[in-house]
Amino acid sequence: MTHKITILPGDGIGPEIMAEAIKVLDVLQSAHGLSVAMEQAPVGGAGYDAHGHPLPAETLSVARSADAILLGSVGGPQWETLERHLRPEQGLLTLRSELSLFSNLRPAILYPQLAGASTLKPEVVSGLDIMIVRELTGGIYFGQPRGIRQLENGESQGFNTLVYSESEIERIGRSAFEIARKRSGRLCSVDKANVLEVSELWRQVITRMGDEYSDVELSHMYVDNAAMQLVREPKQFDVIVTGNMFGDILSDAAAMLTGSIGMLPSASLDCNNKGMYEPIHGSAPDIAGQGVANPLATILSVAMMLRYSLNEVALADRVEAAVGTVLDSGLRTADIASDGMQTVGTTAMGDAVVAALQ
Ligand code: IPM
Ligand code: MG
Repeated sequence: MTHKITILPGDGIGPEIMAEAIKVLDVLQSAHGLSVAMEQAPVGGAGYDAHGHPLPAETLSVARSADAILLGSVGGPQWETLERHLRPEQGLLTLRSELSLFSNLRPAILYPQLAGASTLKPEVVSGLDIMIVRELTGGIYFGQPRGIRQLENGESQGFNTLVYSESEIERIGRSAFEIARKRSGRLCSVDKANVLEVSELWRQVITRMGDEYSDVELSHMYVDNAAMQLVREPKQFDVIVTGNMFGDILSDAAAMLTGSIGMLPSASLDCNNKGMYEPIHGSAPDIAGQGVANPLATILSVAMMLRYSLNEVALADRVEAAVGTVLDSGLRTADIASDGMQTVGTTAMGDAVVAALQ
């Protein structure tokens, strides 16, 4: 069976790291029996430059028809002054919402080979393996009404709406409970139920679902405390489920615990496990074009894609093992090198993973 994959390199370092991910897909095809049909399309600033829009109609339709989407990164200073609806980020947000990719999985794993990279004490983070499940197509990111209005006194007022319906909470809850079930069986739901009605409903719905998933140990935490606990004692968490904005913030904090944001992949899934896969890091315009970016988060995104959308679990294991082999051999891009270690560039790192897969 041939899997249809849409490749969206995007902006900044996106095209460089994507080239390495494509090499990995190529070797999986030539040496391990994978069959994929890849089609590339522009998104973000590249979409704007090519077609005047961060999500060109053609790109959306190619993405719609694919089994999975692999995205590099979007954004850069040259597009920051565009009107909001034309900015690169809008391409990403529209893809998420048009394709109903409501379940965003953001693992924060500390690779033992990189234990020294975290700014936290090794004993606090060693062995860290957290999965944040972030709701991605609702909440304050998409709630209506929104805008900037003129008050009677002449002052401007900005406003957004934080809304979650029962069904939206239930479907992200289901994603999270199912994942917790396959891991250690612990789920922490993060909200702000002491202040927000929308969180009160969130907590009710998740609690009710907890009865159905009685094998999962469910807890609840307010988001401010969760932020504190993440840096105080992160290993108390296994799976965290939360809304769109809280998840945006907590997932950056969790990523930093590992000290190597250049290593972390993510998945955004719809209800049929069709998904978009991307590194957690951004487009890093400051190093774009220099050939020094770390391609491993994108390569690990390929592994997540194989696991969650393409049902090629054995190949996913292989890719993750190959990354481990390369780290064991001491190869480091600049972002994950500790003092005095020699570093390699984007291409050499990609080549090493390919060699480990051959
Ligand atoms: C993320 C990013 C995006 C978000 C931006 C680029 C729109 O921060 O994926 O976490 O806020 O969701
Ligand atoms: Mg973010």
